[in-house]
Amino acid sequence: METTLIALLGGYLLGSVPFGLILTRLTGAGDLRAIGSGNIGATNVLRTGRKGLAAATLLLDLAKGALAVVLARHFLPAQAEAMAAGASVIGHCFPVWLRFNGGKGVATTMGVSLGLAWPIGLAYAVVWLGVLALTRISSLGGLSAVIAAPMAAYVFGYPQYGPVLGAIAVLVIWLHRANIARLRAGTEPKVGSRK
Ligand code: G3P
Repeated sequence: METTLIALLGGYLLGSVPFGLILTRLTGAGDLRAIGSGNIGATNVLRTGRKGLAAATLLLDLAKGALAVVLARHFLPAQAEAMAAGASVIGHCFPVWLRFNGGKGVATTMGVSLGLAWPIGLAYAVVWLGVLALTRISSLGGLSAVIAAPMAAYVFGYPQYGPVLGAIAVLVIWLHRANIARLRAGTEPKVGSRK
């Protein structure tokens, strides 16, 4: 009971740090909520024109997910890492500090995938960057990667992580419903566009 609570709360709090919002505010890059899609993730930070800031957001959002998993594995009994993984993505998507209006979870899911098992993280990165390179559409790359993650868990011999990665995929797809509507309409912006 105590382990579950620590893993869930610790993972949530780590995941809830809105690095994109913090970095853009600290550097005077503007109010991320009023720019582009209004999302707090790296794709939207890129729309401020600050590539370095977008890269830092991506790395920090990724690192907090990986850290939540690694800390749970190190300090808590088995199974806690999967709970911390799910909780950190939930923290990113529904941070208490932003009235539960957070990001869409793609970078943090990459972090938890890497933390859970590096082959899953590698598969995630290959699918994400591959689709992004082919289409230049960030949401399509992210959606493809979150769908690939639970499959990679089973293919590479980590079936214990399949359920949590599957649940995360459902959440991330749901959070991308506006992006999916734009993808279907052919109006989803490509990376580099300021829309
Ligand atoms: O990671 C978020 C990305 O998939 C979509 O971002 O700002 O285009 O909605 P955005």
